[in-house]
Amino acid sequence: MQSRPILVADSQPEVRTALFEALTRMGYAVALAEDGEEALQKFKADPFELIITGIRMPRLDGMQLLSQVKQQSPQTPVIVITGHGTVDNAVDAMREGAFDYILKPFSMEIIKETVVRALNSVKSSASLKTDNKTNDYTDDRRPIITEERVLKRLLDMAKSVAPAKATVLIQGESGTGKELLARFIHKHSDRASGPFVAINCASLPEGLLESELFGHEKGSFTGATARKIGKFELAHQGTILLDEISEMDPALQAKLLRVLQEEEIDRVGGKNPIAINIRVIATTNRNLMEWVKQGKFRQDLYYRLNVIPLYIPALRDRPRDICPLAEHFLRKYSRENGRKLKKLSPESLAQLKSMTWPGNVRELENIIARGVLLAKGSTIEPSDLFLDPAVYGSAETQQVKTTKNGRTMTIKEMEKELIEQALVETNGNRTHAAGILGISVRTLRNKLAEYKAMGWETGQAA
Ligand SMILES: Nc1ncnc2c1ncn2[C@@H]1O[C@H](COP(=O)(O)OP(=O)(O)OP(=O)(O)O)[C@@H](O)[C@H]1O
Ligand SMILES: [Mg+2]
Repeated sequence: MQSRPILVADSQPEVRTALFEALTRMGYAVALAEDGEEALQKFKADPFELIITGIRMPRLDGMQLLSQVKQQSPQTPVIVITGHGTVDNAVDAMREGAFDYILKPFSMEIIKETVVRALNSVKSSASLKTDNKTNDYTDDRRPIITEERVLKRLLDMAKSVAPAKATVLIQGESGTGKELLARFIHKHSDRASGPFVAINCASLPEGLLESELFGHEKGSFTGATARKIGKFELAHQGTILLDEISEMDPALQAKLLRVLQEEEIDRVGGKNPIAINIRVIATTNRNLMEWVKQGKFRQDLYYRLNVIPLYIPALRDRPRDICPLAEHFLRKYSRENGRKLKKLSPESLAQLKSMTWPGNVRELENIIARGVLLAKGSTIEPSDLFLDPAVYGSAETQQVKTTKNGRTMTIKEMEKELIEQALVETNGNRTHAAGILGISVRTLRNKLAEYKAMGWETGQAA
């Protein structure tokens, strides 16, 4: 993969050096700036996929840098580095749209984990950019494209319930646009100027999820070296998106129910409850009622969440959307890559229409993004699309059937190759990789653990 450019701004030389060394060792291309002003100039001149900045800096401080960057390019994640004395600033920074904050002194592990998360949060297609000169993340109007009556009706419905505070449960397969719809609702609500905070309940081990959501007080458990503000608090006066709610464990489900009923939260180790005003949107790609029946999900919580149920149909059940979506992504990726607008050949379009789309709109988006880059002429031919699901992924996947020394691969080895490929495709986003592979995140996690136990390198912590 290409190394992804990161800009580091801090007034302390030792912080700059430490980050430079750590990030270069991880394979990123790193540029340094001594203050916010210098960082802003560099950011305007070159596209960076991530910015890490200190708060106190001469000329332009970290908060000002953050707001300038967010104006120009709302999708570029900004990580704020802060000392214990300025934690409150960091919280403000999160409210202003910072991706996360890191407390000094920091370990390399924390840096690595946060950077990977931040880069994964950027559209996975970003890694496909080759000659992105215009830094076109600036276009944050995420339109929802559809020609299908069912979806149009759903959008009307979403718009009409947006102003209410009622909880929304969005159901639909992976890649159908649940997060897009959640942002749409936020944007059409009277909280639109407040924060939109998303958290994926499947991506964190159980204990960590609780402190991510609720925050914790310093010293509340080993490793809680500082106070942490949770996502609920960060979403105050805005919207919180609880992604993959089905994966939340029962103890936490009970605590969430209390948040919804009482509109207050308790930080882990905290003494007094904190009042919050949030709109909760939950998503799931499972049939949550089934989970209730099987005793895996609390029934009372289900009803609390399901006040406004919205169901997004799978792409294969919306055949009329394939063509307009493909054209939308053609325009988007041609523009982002500074390429002339290409056409799909009639054969390509026919093939796209005949597919079953297990990965839904995200799969279509990835295929078109790749087609735009791979097509030599002005027309995208089927061979540019790599449509055979067995070779889904980049060109290298076509060689997975034999090992490096020519031996035929075992099924297990091929499975591992496909999993690795999906992780590369999604920049390590396990939820999305699992979606592409048609397996659950749990299964994916178990498989990675299994490879690790077998001593197989995957480049992924299990
Ligand atoms: N109707 C649509 N119009 C335009 N883009 C869409 C549409 N539906 C989905 N997308 C795009 O497809 C991608 C996947 O959408 P999104 O992340 O919202 O799906 P999801 O349902 O949350 O998936 P997952 O369950 O895997 O988290 C995004 O890049 C999104 O912008
Ligand atoms: Mg999602």
